[in-house]
Amino acid sequence: MKIILAKSAGYCFGVNQAMKKVEDALEKGDDNIFTLGPLIHNRQVTDKLEQQGVKIISDVGSARGGVITVRSHGVGADIIEEIAESGIELIDATCPYVKKIHNKVKEYYQKDYKIFIVGDRAHPEVIGINGWCDYKGEVINDKNSVPIDQKYDKICVVAQTTMNRGIFEEISEEIKKLYPEAIILNTICNATKTRQEETAQIAKESDCMIIVGGRHSSNTKKLADIGRKHCEKTVHIETADELDLDILKGCDTVGITAGASTPHWIIKEVINKMTKSFEEMLKDSEMEASYEE
Ligand code: F3S
Repeated sequence: MKIILAKSAGYCFGVNQAMKKVEDALEKGDDNIFTLGPLIHNRQVTDKLEQQGVKIISDVGSARGGVITVRSHGVGADIIEEIAESGIELIDATCPYVKKIHNKVKEYYQKDYKIFIVGDRAHPEVIGINGWCDYKGEVINDKNSVPIDQKYDKICVVAQTTMNRGIFEEISEEIKKLYPEAIILNTICNATKTRQEETAQIAKESDCMIIVGGRHSSNTKKLADIGRKHCEKTVHIETADELDLDILKGCDTVGITAGASTPHWIIKEVINKMTKSFEEMLKDSEMEASYEE
């Protein structure tokens, strides 16, 4: 059995940086480390951090001294201000690519542009981006929701970093038709694109495709959809325990990838479980062979 592990599997740059910042704070011995929302969409990791004393809070008011960490999704300008006013130390783990969007939104909003955000309105990253234009941005998630009844003179369009490129292009075209002067900034992160393309490529070559990542992680769910499109035997698991080895029977090539919040130790456990079972399968077949002799 050949195993193909995606090069892009696991933590992206932004998640890696956020994890590092919290681990450094733990190492420094900082007491009362809080994260505004789960640091990453992976229960195994957030459980581990909790055991080390990192607490998840949903608002700044719930922190009792200590340090507040803003996760890679980022937050609005009002939240950053609230933390500064509270006197609590801030660990800003906003991904630099998301920070770049905040800066653009702030810049164009100050120049009286209407901000269009292409993305999912309930996603924390989109809520955070909107918080850099006083939550007055228009969130658009399909081409039919481009505002037509109200006309804007100046428009600046940005995208959620994990937005599907095809949908973003469709929406952008619609915006251009209605507002030819609109400034369109493609702020989709390359890490997502690379991971999705690699998943499609590996799934095409594999008899079975294993996607490792949080059940609630939207980027992992997207990878599972891509996997299923190109490989009928695609499974989405959170941990090695969930891998049913029966699925590997009769497979010559098995592909593995993982979402942006999946730590390497979970990927390693999945591979270990598979290779152990492979060695066992080999042993079984040798026993059978010697029995036949
Ligand atoms: Fe940042 Fe891209 Fe990851 S925006 S958090 S590096 S998916």
